[in-house]
Amino acid sequence: MDLLIPTILTVSLAIYLLLNKFHNGLHRIPGPLCASFTDFWKVWYASRGSNHRNDTYVDTHREYGDIVRIGPNNVVFADPLAIQEIYGTKGSQQKSPHYDTFSMPVKGHQFPSLLSSLDQKWHDQQRKLINTAFSATAILKYEPWVDDTINVLLRELKSRFLVGKGQSESLELYTWLAYFAADVISDLTYGQRTGFLETGTDVLGIQGNVEKVFQFWLLFAQMPILDRLTFKNPLLLFLNRHGIMESKKPLLSIVHRHFEARKKIWEEKDGREGDRVTLIDRFLQAQRDNAEKVPMPPERHAVTMVTAGSETTAITLASIFYFLMKNPECYTRLQEEVDAITPDQLHTAGDSMVFPWRVAQTMPYLDACIREAMRLHPAQRIPHNRVVPEAGLVIRGQFIPGSTEVGIYPSVLHRRKEVFGDDVETYRPERWLEDSQKTERMKASMFTFSYGKYNCLGQNISRLEIYKLVPSVMRALQLQLKHPDREWELKPGAFAMPKELPVYLNGRV
Ligand code: HEM
Repeated sequence: MDLLIPTILTVSLAIYLLLNKFHNGLHRIPGPLCASFTDFWKVWYASRGSNHRNDTYVDTHREYGDIVRIGPNNVVFADPLAIQEIYGTKGSQQKSPHYDTFSMPVKGHQFPSLLSSLDQKWHDQQRKLINTAFSATAILKYEPWVDDTINVLLRELKSRFLVGKGQSESLELYTWLAYFAADVISDLTYGQRTGFLETGTDVLGIQGNVEKVFQFWLLFAQMPILDRLTFKNPLLLFLNRHGIMESKKPLLSIVHRHFEARKKIWEEKDGREGDRVTLIDRFLQAQRDNAEKVPMPPERHAVTMVTAGSETTAITLASIFYFLMKNPECYTRLQEEVDAITPDQLHTAGDSMVFPWRVAQTMPYLDACIREAMRLHPAQRIPHNRVVPEAGLVIRGQFIPGSTEVGIYPSVLHRRKEVFGDDVETYRPERWLEDSQKTERMKASMFTFSYGKYNCLGQNISRLEIYKLVPSVMRALQLQLKHPDREWELKPGAFAMPKELPVYLNGRV
């Protein structure tokens, strides 16, 4: 009798693990043995700690091949030709359940967002309504406000860290880039910087809070049930609905306050554009213009922009500067390109000279350095999985049964030797300038912003920020790593954030 319960539990567990292993016939696909039994293998893989190389699943694919089973119901691909087959119009159009873990309950209620919603119809309607706010032409309207925030960043760095023209004390560059990215996106979204740059502090602890959430997201994205058992467990949501144990969400309160203020201004303008158009103005206009009267949550969309657009851009900026500083010959070559642009070609913003988007786009080496950093350091480490439709899909010649989750990791694609060359582990911006056909192939295999109808909606905005900021900073300041011989280390989390990036600054102009 004493052994009955343990025996039943052991046998049940064994049956459960075996059912997982043979689930949908996926046991024929190679992969780590433990991964075929349980998603805990992915949780373990994701939580192995920090690493200076942003190379999720690169080792796994090298060991098991281009098609690997990394979970009882999860198969990942390494071949660039799989991009179209998974994410193209004939591929799978359904996000996998882990996206739901990105939704933030408020007072115990869950609200869909463009990023987290699993409802295709809702997503497609919303994206169609707000798409124009992110078009290549729309973003030109945002450029003067990006100039403004670049000026604030340069002003703060100079006044806080440069004494005369000598070398500064060391400072945490990542922190300042994160302040910049968060201030730009809040300014573009509701017409106000949050004030990270001006105060030089993490206002209301927002960034620290977001960072903690990212650590959980990395794990929850591998095994969404962990989210449902913890942050979204029904008892906790019930208590939250009654005002008990509701955790503070300072970012949501700030967006709410600014949303209401901006809405008032927009209503007063009554449809006239005025001299300032924010993303919220565009969302409100889209809501007013939408003939079919599809219900739309402009405030939710504002929250999504502020959360999706901050850390991703900061990490990308940090990687661009990091690789340049680690490779002084590339830094010098880019500096020459930057210095060849004459002051009359630049915008004046406050005390600073800022590179216009139009000019930055004509700088080939700048473009190469940015693409090369994005190749080696894609900001997102969470999966972009899709669910295979009921009838199944053939992906790279392999039949994958319906309801399987399939995906591709950017770090894997970005290290394909047949596309990028044998030296894939090396930072070499020149690879983007050698042969136009090869460059086109490389561009088609880049996955930093994902692909298909769920790809990054804000990519034009982030390019606007990045292509303008990098040369503007390099013109004004010389950056130098505090520890040039060390590789940087990354924090574990959904986004490949550096643990630290201490640098010295020298004034230039
Ligand atoms: C370098 C900076 C950025 C990177 C690397 C990046 C990357 C990504 C990735 C990988 C996705 C997920 C795609 C998928 O699930 O398949 C995504 C989605 C998204 N991003 Fe970005 N992002 C960046 C900047 C931004 C900015 C600045 C904004 C806002 C202005 C933004 C807004 C969004 C939104 C709204 C989605 C959800 C799109 C949808 O599901 O329809 N992102 N981003």
